[in-house]
Amino acid sequence: MALITWSNEYCVNINEIDEEHQELINLINNLEDAYKAWQIKLVDHSLFRWYFNEFTMFMNYHFQTEERIFKERNYRNLDYHENEYDILSTKLLETQKNIAKAEMFAAEEIINFITHWLNQHILSIFQMQAQTHAKIQKTPTEKSRFDVLDDFGELLTPA
Ligand SMILES: [Fe+2]
Repeated sequence: MALITWSNEYCVNINEIDEEHQELINLINNLEDAYKAWQIKLVDHSLFRWYFNEFTMFMNYHFQTEERIFKERNYRNLDYHENEYDILSTKLLETQKNIAKAEMFAAEEIINFITHWLNQHILSIFQMQAQTHAKIQKTPTEKSRFDVLDDFGELLTPA
């Protein structure tokens, strides 16, 4: 049984990104299968290592895709997106060393880590979309509560 199944809840309504997220889910499920086969000694760590490298390469490619699309769409909080990937890259590098030494604990740990990471990552895209959409919706004539306070500030400032 697959560890994660694609559902519409993951859909960010950008085809290229949704397709790549589906591929990431496939790769996570492959990692899970390779881990289980390794655990029952059906295979050694080589299969997991192979899928792990596939996942790492695809994740790097996916990061480039998202950076390009988010910039094209003027999404806000791109720093958060970069930071998310830095954290994941550090973890992947650490895991790569442990997997090369055939440390089985590292396999289980990274599967849990990236499953949680992917959920948080998709949630953060929804947040970026909501923030960007809210900014676009606001016309120059609209006044937020803070804009009104700014106006008062100007009035109260001595000439
Ligand atoms: Fe993504």
